[in-house]
Amino acid sequence: MTTIYSDLTKKDLGVLQELLTKDLLIALPTETVYGLAGHAFHDRAIVKIYELKGRPSFNPLIIHFATADSAFNQVVASDTAHKLAEAFWPGPLTLVLPRKDSCQVSHLASAGLETLAVRVPGHPMALEILEYTKIPLAAPSANLSESISPTCAQDVIDNFGLADDRLGAIIDGGACDQGLESTILDLTSENPVILRPGVITRDMIRAVLGTEILSSDHLSLTIKAPGQMKRHYAPKIPLRINVKEVLPGEALLAFGPPLETHGFTMTLNLSQSRDLSEAAANLFAYLRALDQKAFRGIAVMSIPDEGIGVAINDRLRRAAAK
Ligand code: TXA
Ligand code: MG
Repeated sequence: MTTIYSDLTKKDLGVLQELLTKDLLIALPTETVYGLAGHAFHDRAIVKIYELKGRPSFNPLIIHFATADSAFNQVVASDTAHKLAEAFWPGPLTLVLPRKDSCQVSHLASAGLETLAVRVPGHPMALEILEYTKIPLAAPSANLSESISPTCAQDVIDNFGLADDRLGAIIDGGACDQGLESTILDLTSENPVILRPGVITRDMIRAVLGTEILSSDHLSLTIKAPGQMKRHYAPKIPLRINVKEVLPGEALLAFGPPLETHGFTMTLNLSQSRDLSEAAANLFAYLRALDQKAFRGIAVMSIPDEGIGVAINDRLRRAAAK
């Protein structure tokens, strides 16, 4: 059975610590999306994460820590890593760094790679759990592999139900502020490379480092970001992006003044005022809401490919991929 918590007392934190120590999983809110978390040092917990999500074992997990110091105990952190941690943690930036020889994180969590993806999340409840338990948490998004990432506790329940013995608790921290997964930055080669765009944009990173930041479309993606499969975040009905016209029977995901629709349909507006942060926060919830068999598909209006729009378009392209 899964227990739902909507605020955390000391006693609750003690219970969560015990669940995690016994290799059970908990779903928790972060500022980006909800995570399915387990003890990062314990192989048995990591296996449960892969099994429950139906995630291929070659796709490594992000490890969450209470502080930059505890993260950098496990990986070799360059000056660049320290600067970025100072600027953006706690917050939605994941850094890929070489594992230390003494790294205690399960090799299953990093899928056998010599690198590890680490971050300090910004949500107060996630931080409270990490600080209280002192347990680093491996946590992918709390959804079944390939489906849309969860941005509220109900989405997690819709994915896993409340009857799975492996999932001990769901922490309900309301809707996620950012709504898109963290920016992933690889710091293992000469120039930093963005493996997955997010709300921390290339310009923001460049402003801190003052160096050239590459993005993964310049490289062969397969080696560096094993989990960045082409199809991801997929609704069950077809999705068309950058539409100029809505077809009869299609639902509309609008951005700014909406296009005209035809016949029985539904329109949701990512941001009437064309605000990209607002659009990012609404994206996954609206995709989920429009993903109904009553429609022949979802038509998405075009979104400027700048700032956070780069991350939104990345997710939409994957959602549209066949
Ligand atoms: O915002 C987020 O990052 C959320 C919350 C829960 O923290 N987590 C998340 O995890 O999005 P997940 O598992 O859905 O995505 C993790 C991505 C995958 O694409 C994976 O391939 C990549 O991180 N990744 C993990 N370790 C890596 C590594 N060592 N090198 C390259 N990519 C890595
Ligand atoms: Mg995911």
